[in-house]
Amino acid sequence: MIKIAVFGAGTWGIALARLLAVNGRDVTVWSAIPTELKSLSTTHRHPNLPGMELPSTMHYTADIAEACAGKDILLFAVPSPFVRSTAKKAAPYISDSQLIVDVAKGIEDKTLMTMSEIIEDELTKQKRSARVVALSGPTHAEEVARDMPTLIVAASEDEEAAKAVQKAFSTPTFRVYTNTDRRGTELGGAVKNVIALAVGIALGLGYGDNAKAALITRGNAELSRLGIAMGCKPETFSGLSGMGDLIVTCTSMHSRNLHAGMLLGHGKTVEEAKTEVGQVVEGINALPAACRLAKKYKVDMPIVQSVDAILGGRLAASNALASLMGRDLKRE
Ligand SMILES: NC(=O)c1ccc[n+]([C@@H]2O[C@H](COP(=O)([O-])OP(=O)(O)OC[C@H]3O[C@@H](n4cnc5c(N)ncnc54)[C@H](O)[C@@H]3O)[C@@H](O)[C@H]2O)c1
Repeated sequence: MIKIAVFGAGTWGIALARLLAVNGRDVTVWSAIPTELKSLSTTHRHPNLPGMELPSTMHYTADIAEACAGKDILLFAVPSPFVRSTAKKAAPYISDSQLIVDVAKGIEDKTLMTMSEIIEDELTKQKRSARVVALSGPTHAEEVARDMPTLIVAASEDEEAAKAVQKAFSTPTFRVYTNTDRRGTELGGAVKNVIALAVGIALGLGYGDNAKAALITRGNAELSRLGIAMGCKPETFSGLSGMGDLIVTCTSMHSRNLHAGMLLGHGKTVEEAKTEVGQVVEGINALPAACRLAKKYKVDMPIVQSVDAILGGRLAASNALASLMGRDLKRE
């Protein structure tokens, strides 16, 4: 039986933990917050995933050494701001025979590293190594928790590692593809959250489906331009972790980034929007890094830059459309 430790007891970590456990994997959940482990192990429920029941076969621990011991796969499912600290804590207990899977989506502002790169960085600092695979796509936890059909991609330059993750995570309702462009896959997962903020702002201002479709399509053009400049594969951006994730994040009622954007469009401040959403809004975390990447690779990203100007208080949301529409006319 494949043994998997899941780091993080948020909605995505627990939705995946349940999926894996009901499909015959041996699952242990680690969290930095012992009280949530106690609640999960006694109620078998997650407060943000109503109606989902966790199988009694799942194990829980607040001890990261115990979580790592004897596992085939270590799944990083903490929000992006905690990936580095979690990797640092886990590194001493990780061996090179273990596969690491990252599902957190973001780019670190200071280093411009993707989440997988952060994990590798922390392993290297502690003279450790392991194969790290990114698992990303259009996958809302709320639907996976209810066994609704979902497609995702396991990405690694090491094709054997990606295939091992594909095999370990595939179930009758959860279909895993592979690709060899981990960086492009992770870039899509991070930048789409910023585009979702833009779509939310547009909807909050009262604009319609035309604006939504325009922002998704042109948002994908920005993402692809950046990714290609960074050496990623163009086809990644029309795949599950590119266009697929953009569509779900920019149209779903489950999207926190879309929700946060709508609140901003209604005139709320960033802090008010974050408080009202109540869970991590990864687009806000990824925004500074996306802007710095655009600058570093000299790529024009007008939608991302407009979101940055709105959140930074340099542009009123109500003026953003005029500034985007008033740019020089160009070929598609
Ligand atoms: N929710 C989804 O549908 C979904 C889908 C795909 C990817 N993701 C990505 O997965 C990641 C996690 O998302 P989520 O929805 O589970 O977030 P969440 O806000 O539900 O996660 C909260 C959890 O983070 C953990 N945490 C809090 N503080 C911590 C700390 N200091 N150190 C370590 N862990 C801490 C706790 O276990 C807490 O329950 C994000 O990067 C997100 O973009 C989420």
